[in-house]
Amino acid sequence: MTAPAPAASRQQAAFHPLTVVRVERLTEDAVALTFAVPAELREAYRFHAGQHLAIRRRGAGGNGGGVRRTYSICSPESADPAELTVGVREVAGGEFSTYANRELTAGDVLEVLTPAGRFGLRERPRPGGHYAAIVGGSGITPVLSIAATLLAGDPQARFCLVRSDRTALSTMFLEEAADLKDRWPERFQLVQTLSREETQAGLESGRLDEGRLERLLPALLPDTVAAVDGWFLCGPYGLVQGAERALRTLGVARRRIHQEIFHVDDGSAPPPVAPSADRTPDQASVTATLDGRSGNWEVRPGETLLEAVLRNRSDAPYACKGGVCGTCRAFLVEGEVRMERNFALEPDELEAGYVLACQSHPATERVELDFDR
Ligand code: FES
Repeated sequence: MTAPAPAASRQQAAFHPLTVVRVERLTEDAVALTFAVPAELREAYRFHAGQHLAIRRRGAGGNGGGVRRTYSICSPESADPAELTVGVREVAGGEFSTYANRELTAGDVLEVLTPAGRFGLRERPRPGGHYAAIVGGSGITPVLSIAATLLAGDPQARFCLVRSDRTALSTMFLEEAADLKDRWPERFQLVQTLSREETQAGLESGRLDEGRLERLLPALLPDTVAAVDGWFLCGPYGLVQGAERALRTLGVARRRIHQEIFHVDDGSAPPPVAPSADRTPDQASVTATLDGRSGNWEVRPGETLLEAVLRNRSDAPYACKGGVCGTCRAFLVEGEVRMERNFALEPDELEAGYVLACQSHPATERVELDFDR
């Protein structure tokens, strides 16, 4: 079994102009974008299944400062390293996703950050391992890569994919998931649920919520729900939270659950924690190390640490600025911070001392961050 390739380190993280070689329509509101990766950049763009790419379109955005968005890689690790493919679903008012779905064509050039993100398997897979995923909507994108990588890398591995979409027509990567089933019919189990119509298999329509999963999963995986080596949850906040609660109720250990949240727009997210006045120092500074170079700068009142760093180092990593993608993850070397919200870091990363710079406000006069760790 091939172990997942290590993620490119932060020292190597950099934007490069990559040419779009294909724009393929997946659904009425989603496309797959394939970039050509020149030979000299293949090592920098080597990824592990589950990672994402931040894409920057210069000159766009309200102030012309450019728009950055993050999209997961759907290709398996074994794919041709000369190409990288991501899935982009158009969201209402989404500046980049609308452009990608309606205007972008082959031959266009975009700036693409080297792969980042920690979703996926953190350790070498156990030979003959059993894996499963619960995904909603575009949450299929990284899981397609993870499933194909695990199944191709180990002839004994098994994977169960439970996906939830609104309708059959809105389902991204329908053919690609069916291809996995055709290729590994004994080892890949696919269960499609639709919230707004019945499936061909006769599964009831409706949301894939906590209660439904508690009934469905033991029926799908009799006696093995808690024994599955790794559960991958990906999609909207409400679905991922409900799936995690269902798995915990069914006896799955926390360390076997890996999750990535794509959208936090369903009203179910906890409100942001505003920095409290009594924990906000009158004056604060941040020291940040990026690509081996350090600097120390003032943090203005109300600013996040990312905003303070970006005023001085435009190469600071970020994409969503919403606490969701994890691109701005940094190690807290010194001081204390208050994070407004966190949908990206796992409990073990928080315990290890990582924070999201886009959500962090200083709680001590001096704060030091290391973006390279
Ligand atoms: S930029 Fe996405 S979590 Fe901070």
